[in-house]
Amino acid sequence: MGHVHVLDHPLIQHKLTHIRDKSTGTKEFRELVDEVAMLMAFEITRNLPLQETTINTPVMEAKTKVLAGKKIGLIPILRAGLGMVDGVLQLIPAAKVGHVGLYRDPETLKPVEYYIKLPSDIEERELIVIDPMLATGGSANDAIHSLKKRGAKNIRLMCLIAAPEGVEVIKEEHPDVDIYLAALDEKLDEHAYIVPGLGDAGDRLFGTK
Ligand code: URA
Repeated sequence: MGHVHVLDHPLIQHKLTHIRDKSTGTKEFRELVDEVAMLMAFEITRNLPLQETTINTPVMEAKTKVLAGKKIGLIPILRAGLGMVDGVLQLIPAAKVGHVGLYRDPETLKPVEYYIKLPSDIEERELIVIDPMLATGGSANDAIHSLKKRGAKNIRLMCLIAAPEGVEVIKEEHPDVDIYLAALDEKLDEHAYIVPGLGDAGDRLFGTK
């Protein structure tokens, strides 16, 4: 079963409080999301495998460690996922970035993928799917299915805030996917907003309404 990791580092929690606060304006919101994304990336990558290498320091030959194996791919879900990409790239600057855009057809309720562009070697990459708000779980679930259909094998999901409903969907549908959150909130309201949440992440990031 996929694990749910709530990243309770004090800096993440402190910044998240300001992100949630409705008096925080677009500029500061964006900066804080960026900072939290960077701090979360530090925790999410904690278990990446290392391998030994040999180098020469100015003093002597030394056996040291470098990252082993898989390269990283970041997959923000449009549009709000974009707000967390730069923060993660600060720590993993060589990561490739794919994009997934989905909406749900209001009549069929089926996901419609209106945009997808991925690195060519996703099956070999450790992928981090990025969506700030895991509410019903619909978009993240559809995006992960879509990536798996194209060969993705190793996927982690990174969100700022989740509702229990969304977490359950991902655990059910993708037991192989670990979920990383800054907070697990109480519930969804009748409009599928996370409570207490932070409002609409895309609107707050981009200053739209
Ligand atoms: N998407 C958001 O941006 N906010 C929510 O609370 C739920 C989904």
